[in-house]
Amino acid sequence: MESLTTFFDEAPPLPGELHASLQALYGGNLALPRDGRHARAYCYANFVTSLDGIVSFELPKRETGSEVSGGSQIDHVVMGILRSLADAVIWGSKTYRAARRFVPTPAAIWPAGAADFAAQRASHGLAPTPIAVIVSQSGDLPLTGAALCNADQPAIIATTSAGAARIAAFAADLPNTAVWTFDAPVTPSALLARLWAERGVATALHEGGARLLGSFLADRALDELFVTRAPQVIGRSADQPRPGLAEGVAFTPETAPWARILSLKRSGSYLFARYGFPALPTDER
Ligand SMILES: NC(=O)c1ccc[n+]([C@@H]2O[C@H](COP(=O)([O-])OP(=O)(O)OC[C@H]3O[C@@H](n4cnc5c(N)ncnc54)[C@H](OP(=O)(O)O)[C@@H]3O)[C@@H](O)[C@H]2O)c1
Repeated sequence: MESLTTFFDEAPPLPGELHASLQALYGGNLALPRDGRHARAYCYANFVTSLDGIVSFELPKRETGSEVSGGSQIDHVVMGILRSLADAVIWGSKTYRAARRFVPTPAAIWPAGAADFAAQRASHGLAPTPIAVIVSQSGDLPLTGAALCNADQPAIIATTSAGAARIAAFAADLPNTAVWTFDAPVTPSALLARLWAERGVATALHEGGARLLGSFLADRALDELFVTRAPQVIGRSADQPRPGLAEGVAFTPETAPWARILSLKRSGSYLFARYGFPALPTDER
């Protein structure tokens, strides 16, 4: 596995740092704001896309981001590093279904880093495990996924009154899961504000999917986007629509969110870009 080579990194310097072994793999340090600016959790997303911007083949049992990355180990390392900085990891209900065998911990995605992830989280005062936050408007989701059924994995289902009513009978038996209700649909900034106020979540990692990301972008509730560009073309057709990065929202030239690039790295033919929202007024387009 080839470590990341950094072309440039212009992210603002912040206190806190990656474990030395993780810095070596990441090609530098990485920190995120933990000061509750905007009176809510700081939200950063991580996706892998194809060259044509697609995030899922949407084929039976071949729908996850790993199919898009081709099972790239270095992409899993980056996912683990980003999880290692998170107080919470947010999944839309379809992403949760696709990943229902897994918990959203750094070690789950890159087991070889388990000891370093644990040491880093402990030294920065983070809980051993990020909270899993599953967002569902309908409450129509299986409650048997690892993220909800594991006593060591704290979880929150963010849903509506109707959704909460739908799952009430089963949710009461889940070992470490709370159900939070919101007006429909869940407003991302309200979710992030509640995570900060009630659980002290300073950093929330948004791991998709595309529909959930669309709602965060529309609400201007996304602070950063980490995107891995896998060097393959996936394509789409009328029979196979396949999601792009943001679904369920169609911006106009006036409303489309612009970002500024913060860092650019590479491993082999994969590119790893980090963007901040919004773009600065001085950024050139
Ligand atoms: N390449 C990558 O990096 C990557 C990352 C993540 C996922 N994926 C893949 O992308 C696909 C899933 O993406 P997706 O866009 O179809 O689904 P998704 O965003 O994971 O889930 C969509 C569902 O989340 C709920 N939801 C989203 N926004 C909401 C809001 N504001 N309020 C309330 N509920 C909300 C709704 O659930 P209900 O229908 O339950 O109401 C909605 O149907 C999967 O194939 C997954 O494997 C790829």
